[in-house]
Amino acid sequence: MKKILIVGPASQILGIRIAKGLDINYYNTETKTFPDGENYLRINIDNDSLIDGTEVIIVQSTGPSSSENQNGRLIELLMMIEAVKRMGATKIVVVIPYLAYARQDSVFRPGECKFAQLVLRLIDSMRINELYVVDIHSQKILEEIQCKCVNIDSMKILADYIKSLNIKNIVVVAPDKGAVERSRAFAKHFGDNIPVDYFEKVRDVKSGEITMSGKLSLKNRDVIISDDIIATGGTMAKAIKILKKEGANRIFAVATHALLLQNARYRIFSAGADDIIGTDSIDNEVSKVSLSKAIVDYLK
Ligand code: R5P
Repeated sequence: MKKILIVGPASQILGIRIAKGLDINYYNTETKTFPDGENYLRINIDNDSLIDGTEVIIVQSTGPSSSENQNGRLIELLMMIEAVKRMGATKIVVVIPYLAYARQDSVFRPGECKFAQLVLRLIDSMRINELYVVDIHSQKILEEIQCKCVNIDSMKILADYIKSLNIKNIVVVAPDKGAVERSRAFAKHFGDNIPVDYFEKVRDVKSGEITMSGKLSLKNRDVIISDDIIATGGTMAKAIKILKKEGANRIFAVATHALLLQNARYRIFSAGADDIIGTDSIDNEVSKVSLSKAIVDYLK
């Protein structure tokens, strides 16, 4: 079956890298916002026959950026799926490197909505064939949908990049207990006996304020602190300040999805980080590691 790729407006670099890795043709989109605020999207093709009878891969991250927020990104994604379905795509494969709302997977206070599950059900209801996400915040939310669904692990490619930096005497630190499992898996890519430590983090469910504590022994050690998401940088900055106090040598803040909202860059570097390392799930200046190979390996 013929295969093509649609490069979503939020994944322009990664989309092209994936198409090149698969050696298939790719097409971009034209987008705008109407004066009343509604989104408009058109796939940049001359006629429907290009899609009719074709397998279509859509790549669209749903993180916020200066040009669109996550709601707009989700609407654009739904528009692309509707368009290719209507034009006769025989198989629709959707790649969402960063899935917005994935952190809203539980009811933390009465009256809240489990919106992560709803977002997935909405995408699934469009009868796509396959869905690929990367290091999703909560794996359990994938259990609720019907289509084939894969959560791609970015740990190896992040570790390969970090190894190339020649970091010595490594300790991997998780910024909270929830990230320990991920950090242990991450540490294994650096060797068998790499120590893993973590902080106790408590986030006030009303104010969002974080408190963090932990006693780690880090004299002369290079620290990789790893999380799935850096949003405002509050979690990383708090952790890095403690790491510095505990004598850490160099500190690398690593995240699959480095959203870097508000003054996150300033918070993290002024806390003492030597670098921030993210993937191209979010297209910004810290996207040093491309997910394309890991995604292409699944799509081949
Ligand atoms: C939370 O459970 C996540 O894994 C991240 O730790 C969190 O989203 C980071 O948010 P922020 O950068 O705003 O502290």
